[in-house]
Amino acid sequence: MRMLTSGHRLVALVAAAACVAIGATACGDGGNSAGEEVYQANCATCHGADGGGGAGPKLSEGRVVERYPEVADQERVVREGVEGTAMQAWEGTLTDEEISAVVEYERSL
Ligand code: HEC
Repeated sequence: MRMLTSGHRLVALVAAAACVAIGATACGDGGNSAGEEVYQANCATCHGADGGGGAGPKLSEGRVVERYPEVADQERVVREGVEGTAMQAWEGTLTDEEISAVVEYERSL
């Protein structure tokens, strides 16, 4: 009985280690986990957990891709914000890498 218990524990450990070795994508993650993390932590409160909108406009279903055919233009909005609105400038709060990742994530919603 004792051996069986430790055996189960070993299987769980090996599975977790394999997950780390293969990478997060192989473990059911969407592929842009950095962008998703930044989005959920900083943007979802206004733009909705799935980008469907709220206090901020809807971003999902190709909305931002339509509005900003050039990725650079969308990145600029996120970096500089929209003056006079609740959309703040994220430059200084987020790194360039985080801004790129979150913009890419929004375009995938
Ligand atoms: C406090 C609420 C709030 C938060 C938090 C917020 N936004 Fe916004 N966002 C807005 C509002 C309001 C607008 C619309 C501004 C306007 O009137 O043009 C906007 C506009 C945008 C737009 C342009 C959408 C369009 O249709 O032109 C993008 C892209 C965007 N936000 C991305 C983000 C990202 C990325 C984050 C997180 C890093 C974020 N927002 C966080 C409120 C917010």
